[in-house]
Amino acid sequence: MKTLISREEIQSRVRELAGQIARDYRDRDLVMVGILKGAFVFLADLARHVDLPLEMDFVAVSSYGKDTKSSGVVRIIKDLDIDIRGRDVIVVEDIVDTGLTLSYIADMLRQREPSSLEICALLNKPEARKVELEVKYCGFEIPMLFVVGYGLDHAERYRHLPYVGVLEEAAE
Ligand code: IMP
Ligand code: MG
Repeated sequence: MKTLISREEIQSRVRELAGQIARDYRDRDLVMVGILKGAFVFLADLARHVDLPLEMDFVAVSSYGKDTKSSGVVRIIKDLDIDIRGRDVIVVEDIVDTGLTLSYIADMLRQREPSSLEICALLNKPEARKVELEVKYCGFEIPMLFVVGYGLDHAERYRHLPYVGVLEEAAE
């Protein structure tokens, strides 16, 4: 496994993003929505550095399974428990690749009329984008590589790694 982004680089960037969010959401009604499973590590670290009252909830969607290619098919496995109407939502995701998953989820959540909805992703692969999507809070832009660690998996493995690495045997 080759390290692409070290534990230290991630931790310092996560603190910066949390600081930015804390400034932007002062006196608002923040709900952070994590996309399971990939965002659980990022959201746990991020939320602990956001020095504001906030609520957290999760949505689970079907992912790539054992395949490393995007199918574009998104299935909701677990929906939100809380009502987001009139609230300020940040959707937290591990990585935006084609953008299909997040644009589907964002559209679904916008139909519930939150007062605002923004996207925060640890990683962004702009070259892979198939749909237009504004990522307001982005940790790192990366090239077209298949990465694992810090929540990201390949066939459910490697999520626990504290860094982001490139899985050499899985070509895109
Ligand atoms: P998208 O719909 O193509 O943007 O894909 C989003 C989802 O695909 C992410 O939430 C990840 O679960 C998965 N994914 C995309 N790229 C990678 C990668 O490089 N490593 C691990 N998972 C990835
Ligand atoms: Mg995944």
